Amino acid sequence: MRTRFTELVGCSVPIQQAPMGTISSPDLAVAVAAAGGVGTVTALGLPPEVLVRRLNEMGRRTSGVLSANVVSPDVGEQVVVDVAERVRLVDFFWFDPSPRFVDLVHRSGALVGWQVGSVAEARAAEDAGCDVVTV
Ligand SMILES: Cc1cc2nc3c(=O)[nH]c(=O)nc-3n(C[C@H](O)[C@H](O)[C@H](O)COP(=O)(O)O)c2cc1C
Repeated sequence: MRTRFTELVGCSVPIQQAPMGTISSPDLAVAVAAAGGVGTVTALGLPPEVLVRRLNEMGRRTSGVLSANVVSPDVGEQVVVDVAERVRLVDFFWFDPSPRFVDLVHRSGALVGWQVGSVAEARAAEDAGCDVVTV
């Protein structure tokens, strides 16, 4: 199935798996990516070196589309860059859309998705330059 989403991110099924902390495992994300969707893990609570190793391993296991989720600006810019260098779509949630983070991800060659819960937040995500707004 072709949609604007599949064409943008390069998957074949227009579905992104929701990140769910430790419940959504790397195995699940790899399986979703292999099935044509976007498989997502969260960076929540992982030391940067563990996260990088995990994303490298996942990338070796599938040629499908992977995403990683960042839920706090406190992770730091280097973690955002580390993630963006390893997945197609960096997914943000739980803080205000940040043009700085969007720019960092774009410079690393990935796309940005922002989960929003209001019209104002959706507009802020668009204004910040996000490629995908998850409503
Ligand atoms: C147990 C659980 C853990 C979650 N963990 C995360 C997370 O780590 N990062 C995140 O961005 N969203 C997290 N979410 C939110 C989901 O990704 C999703 O946005 C939310 O459940 C809304 O989708 P739904 O209406 O289909 O449930 C979590 C949701 C649940 C139920």
